[in-house]
Amino acid sequence: MLLFAPIIAPDALVPDGWLSKLLWTIAGLAGAHLVNRAIDVLLWDRLVSKALGGTVPAILKTMVAVVVYLVGMSMIVGLVYGQNVAAFLTALGAGGVVLGLAVRGIFSDLFTGLAVNLDGNVVIDDWIQLSSRSAQARPLLGRVREIGWRSTQLETEDGTLLIIPNTVLAEDLVTNFTRPTAATRYECTIALDASVPCERAKRILLGAARSLAGSRGFVADREPAVLVNGTSEQGVEYLIRFWIQPWNPLSPTTARDAVLTRSLQHLAVAGLAPARGKTELFYDRIAAPRSPDTTAEGRAQLLEGVQLFASLEDDDRLLLAAELKRLVLPMQETVVKQGDTGDTLYIIAEGALDVLLNTDQSPDPVRVATLGAGDFFGEMSLLTGEPRRATVRAATAAVLYELSRDTVGSLIERRPDVADVLSRAVAERKVGLDAAHRNSGHSAKEEAVATLSSQVSKMVRDFFSRRPRTASAVATPAGR
Ligand code: CMP
Repeated sequence: MLLFAPIIAPDALVPDGWLSKLLWTIAGLAGAHLVNRAIDVLLWDRLVSKALGGTVPAILKTMVAVVVYLVGMSMIVGLVYGQNVAAFLTALGAGGVVLGLAVRGIFSDLFTGLAVNLDGNVVIDDWIQLSSRSAQARPLLGRVREIGWRSTQLETEDGTLLIIPNTVLAEDLVTNFTRPTAATRYECTIALDASVPCERAKRILLGAARSLAGSRGFVADREPAVLVNGTSEQGVEYLIRFWIQPWNPLSPTTARDAVLTRSLQHLAVAGLAPARGKTELFYDRIAAPRSPDTTAEGRAQLLEGVQLFASLEDDDRLLLAAELKRLVLPMQETVVKQGDTGDTLYIIAEGALDVLLNTDQSPDPVRVATLGAGDFFGEMSLLTGEPRRATVRAATAAVLYELSRDTVGSLIERRPDVADVLSRAVAERKVGLDAAHRNSGHSAKEEAVATLSSQVSKMVRDFFSRRPRTASAVATPAGR
């Protein structure tokens, strides 16, 4: 500003009369215009546009024009009207501050536009994408048409013009697809059956992508690549990478279409096709619904699930099933009481029962075990003739089957292995009970169980061989 301050013409130089003042004013403005045009033609169009390799941004031209006209007007004020240029510029500056406050948004856009122009990261004809930092906003994509005073114009793929305020351009994340080089890498995927060897698949797909390199929009000197991207139940997924000059003239979507179409053609020539979803079907008979355990067949099927009777033949189980007595217990019902005599064996069909032991150490019974569906109890008294060793109480509502000593005796006579299973259970449980009595946990020693088991087994066989036969005993199946 101080530069123009001396331009105050001595009174002798100031033209007289309003007409000559007007003519000098017109001449001054015409001179400023002439200088501006000369800058346009010589500086912008010849030198700068060649150096930038494209159109000179309008904002730059306008700013220089403003300075040229300002100088011209200062000279007219000083030389034609003999006024103090410094005062003129001060008034202009003060007015500018007021104006600047009023239109600071415009100024912010203006200087951002200038900064965008000067740093040269985005120039006219570049393809850019603006991604807002708010996740919801859709990215804006287009070719830069103009970077103006307040806004930048983008021409979108679908032929519309987006006018973006320069401050938005400065705040958003800008992806420039045209820089640093015009080539950009894109990808697409295709899945092939897992039976196709990877080497062969890569050869075919790479051949397809390579055959496009150099064709319209595809970059010739950047090699495409094919990589295994992952495996799924469909097959193996291949990633095809290729290089294009985006939107020049192909959009990435059109280029992807070209690569996939060419890949499918090459696969077809090789007799292959993309993988399809597969489902393997196995046919099997639906298991017949089990008969209710209120029938003999149903109970025989139930006995199959009881480990004690797992070794029996079907007809043995049927005979045994006929002898079962069904009991339905409410919760907390006591089935056997410690110290009572007993000669029945129980099989649990549904529910859970606690085995409780009364000891000298504690006023309350100790729970030594909880038995569930498929388990049995009562074998100790039944086999040895001794009183019940523990109390068994329903922990939930339960369904049990009861077998008499005679029935079990007849079974053991025919199937001594049943006695072995029962004897082993007696021995294990006895060791468990003794441990609970001593209040020392359930760590039964294996030798103690084995010795006891064979002793009990011998006792059991002796016991049943002395037993008088009764009519309710299980009849021997024919042919045995
Ligand atoms: P019994 O003595 O006739 O009556 C109580 C039953 O509780 C007993 O037979 C066993 O069947 C069962 N029983 C005793 N001790 C145990 C244990 N430690 N684990 C599981 N069941 C047991």
